[in-house]
Amino acid sequence: METANKNTQKTTVLVTGGAGYIGSHTCVALLEQGYDIVVVDNFVNSSPISLERVCQITGQTFPWYHADLRNRTQLDEIFTKHHIDWVIHFAALKAVGESVAQPLRYYENNINGTLSLLAVMAKHECKKIVFSSSATVYGDPEQLPLTEDCALRTTNPYGATKLMIENILRDICHADQSWTAVILRYFNPVGAHPSGLIGENPQGIPNNLTPYIAQVLTGKLPYLQVFGDDYPTADGTGVRDYIHVCDLAQGHLQAIAKVQQSGVFTYNLGTGRGYSVLDVLHAFERASNRKIPYQIKPRRAGDIAECYADPRRAEQDLAWQAQYDLDAMARDLWRFYTQNPQGYTK
Ligand code: NAD
Ligand code: UFG
Repeated sequence: METANKNTQKTTVLVTGGAGYIGSHTCVALLEQGYDIVVVDNFVNSSPISLERVCQITGQTFPWYHADLRNRTQLDEIFTKHHIDWVIHFAALKAVGESVAQPLRYYENNINGTLSLLAVMAKHECKKIVFSSSATVYGDPEQLPLTEDCALRTTNPYGATKLMIENILRDICHADQSWTAVILRYFNPVGAHPSGLIGENPQGIPNNLTPYIAQVLTGKLPYLQVFGDDYPTADGTGVRDYIHVCDLAQGHLQAIAKVQQSGVFTYNLGTGRGYSVLDVLHAFERASNRKIPYQIKPRRAGDIAECYADPRRAEQDLAWQAQYDLDAMARDLWRFYTQNPQGYTK
C-alpha cells in the first residue's frame, strides 16, 4: 500500500474521542506521519492514560482537553486557540445493547455532540470532517460483499445515530458546497498497537467477541459463549469482517491525504474477508498457546449471520488496503492484555 505522504505543511487535526480505542491508534499514526493533533475527550469510556501512552509510543506531546462535545463554549475556545484544518470525529457512545436500553442517552450524546461540533466548525470556517460510521448502517445485508451503495437501514438506536449523522453530513454538504465529509464505515475493529501499550480497554463485561475472549484467556470469565451454531455459514457460527485497528487508523490518514475535493465521500473499511466465531477463537488459541473453553448458546437477539465488506472503493480512491491478518490481530490484542492485565493503570 502506498501510505499517505509525510505531512510537510503541518496540517492540524482535531481528534474527538482521541483517548478511545480507535482514536488513540489514529493519534499515534497522525503523529508518526507528521501531523499536529489536538484531542478532545470527556473520558466517559476511556482514560487519559491512553493519551500518555500515545506520547510514550511516539515520543511527542500534543494538547488535549477534557471536554464534552456538547459544551459549545468549551469547543469554541478550543477552535479559537488552535487553527484546525481537519476534524476526525470518533466521539460517541457505541454499545448496541446499551443503546436499546438507554436510547435517549445515545441520541442525546451522539447526535447533540455532533451537532454542537458541526456548528462550532462552521463558525470557525473549518469544513473538513472524517466521520466514524459503521457497517451497522447496512442492517441485515441484502447482498455480500457489502458495497457502499447497498441499502441503508438500522436495527437499534446506536445504529440509528450513525445513519442520522451520515444524513446530517450529506445535507450539510448539499447545502454548502465548501464542506468535505468523509464517511468511513468500519467493519469489526480488533487488535491493538504492536507495542502493547494501547488497545481496547472495555469497562465491565465486554459485549464484543475479542475482548470477551481476552477476558476468558486472562481467567476473568470462565468460558466463551458462542451465540449460535446454526447460521448458514461454513461452521454454523456468525461471520464478520475483522480488521486490525492499526489498518483502520491508517484509513483515516489516507482519507485526509487523498480527499482533496469538497463533497461527501463514503468508504467501507474492512478486509473483504469473513471469519467465523470459531476461526477467531482458534486464532486466539494460536496467539496465546492456550485452549479457550467455550459453550454453544442460542443466537443473540439482533445478530446477523454474516457480514463482510467490499473494500475496493477505498483501495481505488484512498490507496488503502488492510495489511494485517487475523493472526496478527489476535497476537497484538493478546500482547496488550498480557502487558495490561488490569487495563490502563500507571
Ligand atoms: P471508544 O468508546 O473507545 O472511543 C470513543 C471516545 O469518545 C471515548 O474516549 C469517549 O470517552 C469519547 N466520548 C464519547 N462521548 C463523548 C462526548 N460527548 N464528548 C467527548 N468525548 C466523548 O470507541 P471506539 O471503539 O474507539 O469507537 C470510535 C468511533 O468508532 C465511535 O464513533 C464508534 O461508534 C465508531 N465505531 C466503532 C466500532 C467498534 O467496534 N469499536 C465499529 C464501528 C464504528
Ligand atoms: N459473539 C459470540 N460471543 C460473544 C460475543 C460475540 O459468539 O460473547 C459473536 C456474535 O454473535 C457475532 C460475532 O461474535 O457473530 C461478532 O460479535 P461482536 O459483538 O464482536 O460484533 P458485532 O458484529 O455484533 O458488532 C460490532 C459492533 C457494532 C458494529 C458492528 C459493525 O459491536 O457496534 O460490529 O461494525 F456496528
